[in-house]
Amino acid sequence: MNLQNNKDVYSTVEFNQWAHRAALLPAEQFVIEKYVDRAGPALEAGTGGGRIVLGMRDLGYQRLGGFDFVPDFIKEARTKDPEGRIDFRVADATRLEYADASYRQVLYLQQILSLIESDEMRQAALRESFRVLAPGGLALFSLLSYEARRHQFPYNMFLAWNRAVRGLHGDRRGPQYWPWLKLGGKFNWPALLDRGPYVYWFRVGELDQFFGAAGYRIEAVASVRQIESGRMMNSCAELEGQPLAGTLFVVCRKPT
Ligand SMILES: C[S@@+](CC[C@H](N)C(=O)[O-])C[C@H]1O[C@@H](n2cnc3c(N)ncnc32)[C@H](O)[C@@H]1O
Repeated sequence: MNLQNNKDVYSTVEFNQWAHRAALLPAEQFVIEKYVDRAGPALEAGTGGGRIVLGMRDLGYQRLGGFDFVPDFIKEARTKDPEGRIDFRVADATRLEYADASYRQVLYLQQILSLIESDEMRQAALRESFRVLAPGGLALFSLLSYEARRHQFPYNMFLAWNRAVRGLHGDRRGPQYWPWLKLGGKFNWPALLDRGPYVYWFRVGELDQFFGAAGYRIEAVASVRQIESGRMMNSCAELEGQPLAGTLFVVCRKPT
């Protein structure tokens, strides 16, 4: 299968993985219940089959919206919300059609920003999230964590191999860009030849600059490891140096 980008990945080989899932993961439920106001409104980016917003609806959250750039996901999500209580739309995170300041809360979970291929496009998506958020509003992100994986077996072996392959091809892509190691639940052999598309693994040390450039203020940050013991750090500096495991969760505020 010739996969040109991550939209191709989600429209085909990863479609079934995400169209039919249900229920919030424990870390997701923790951050949602801790930070998101049940009265809404709240918008979820990259909603897939609607798992997260549907889970929120079942917890009593009001005035929900969700978007995804794969139309078949949105069709699937709508079937699970027959009363049409959730505003599901087809949209690309890098250029949204929502009005400025139309949501008080936005959720970019399941690492959607890591799935956007270039730095420029990730920044565009972040700026769009900021634009649709009302002043004083809350934005919740989760990101793939480079530090959580890079020393872990077998990912450390993969990184060493991948560096050698890129060296041979003269490819100067940084070590935070990884090809998909698994697709459709199976090992993705072309990853060993460094075939794209790629996903981006964030370092804690770049988060202040990344979110700050869009205008956000980071209020809390943690990896799943800290969340499992009910803790969120107040700053990236506090998180740096701590053992990380799982994805990173970042809670941001748009200043008033
Ligand atoms: C890992 S899946 C998560 C799906 C759903 N949020 C869940 O947790 O079950 C990531 C989703 O992000 C969507 N996505 C990735 N990049 C996107 C973009 N630029 N704009 C809109 N949706 C995007 C994919 O189509 C996919 O549905």
